[in-house]
Amino acid sequence: MTEPRTLEVDLGARSYPIIIGGGLLGGAFDLSSHLVGSDCLVVSNETVAPLYLKSLKKNLPDRAVHSINLKDGESFKTMASVESIIDCLVSAHTNRDTTVIALGGGVVGDIAGFAAACYMRGVAFIQVPTTLLAQVDSSVGGKTGVNHPDGKNLIGAFHQPRLVLIDTDTLVTLPDRELRAGLAEVIKHGVISDAEFFEWLEVNIDALLARDADALAHAIHRSCEIKAAVVSADEQEKGNRALLNFGHTFAHAIENCLGYGEWLHGEAVAAGMVMATDLSDIEQPAGERIRDLIAAAGLPVLPPAMDAKKLRAAMEMDKKVRAKRLRFVLLKSIGEAYIGTDYSESLLNKVFQNAGL
Ligand code: NAD
Ligand code: GLY
Repeated sequence: MTEPRTLEVDLGARSYPIIIGGGLLGGAFDLSSHLVGSDCLVVSNETVAPLYLKSLKKNLPDRAVHSINLKDGESFKTMASVESIIDCLVSAHTNRDTTVIALGGGVVGDIAGFAAACYMRGVAFIQVPTTLLAQVDSSVGGKTGVNHPDGKNLIGAFHQPRLVLIDTDTLVTLPDRELRAGLAEVIKHGVISDAEFFEWLEVNIDALLARDADALAHAIHRSCEIKAAVVSADEQEKGNRALLNFGHTFAHAIENCLGYGEWLHGEAVAAGMVMATDLSDIEQPAGERIRDLIAAAGLPVLPPAMDAKKLRAAMEMDKKVRAKRLRFVLLKSIGEAYIGTDYSESLLNKVFQNAGL
């Protein structure tokens, strides 16, 4: 077994490590030493718990381990799920010195993190991400929350974990469609900030789809490095953290209009990135290369057929809106993104038309 790799999210007193490696849930990591208190609550779901809860518990021999398994899916990313976690914390008589551990994908991580942020005004939180998307993106950075029927992730809080433990072996059981969805966020990291990584992805996309362990480990490590740097510089999205939302103004509206869970988040991000590239004043062949890489990853390059007016209206709920004006993450080139309001409604209409809407 190769040594795990460690990165740091540098946030002063709230700094934390990201540990990346194989076999970490099988006992190759001392998880107990990162817990606060004598008990903890593991939040997972009905799919992931049967696969990995037992191994996780083995890593916590000296703790009282409570657990709750949520229903699986984006449509359960709701306040009701948060309440069920808090009910569990209360009925287990846990206090402020407890730790909430999220074991699962981005949905479980976002819900569990928000419950940890709310319970007793904030208790310790650990992320154990088990999807590629959660390992390269959602488990890092402390954005937690749930959906509102009128908008994605509208309810939430910044609540940093004290540890992100990435056992890359968990990807073995991940369905192919979910692996591809995770690749959308990997590609996003290359597009917004690292042209060299983007080129590496162009060369290695087939190896990633074939689950080559070294290729996946590199993609996860480089994505976490990029995200950790952005979050360390702008924890609460006062500025450049918004760049991580490339394609997401379109994506979140697609998810909301279709009904949460119909398309995977990563699929919506893929189509959203193509639309955001189209909205950018970027020279060819860069735009084509982005589209081609997304297609090569087996991801959609067009949004689903839907009412353009409804999609445009849903975009108004984007959290980047200021003074009623949409702000988009746009590209200067591959590896260089900026936040812009310099688009016209007619250009936006053209982007919709090019996307078949
Ligand atoms: P998900 O959590 O729904 O997981 C995808 C599916 O894979 C689920 O059915 C899950 O049960 C299953 N699964 C998880 N791990 C598995 C494993 N190892 N083997 C087999 N099945 C497994 O989806 P996701 O793509 O991980 O996360 C998407 C969510 O993340 C969205 O809600 C999105 O908004 C959020 N997100 C948050 C941030 C953030 O910064 N907080 C960033 C990006 C995305
Ligand atoms: N996924 C966007 C962010 O964490 O800021």
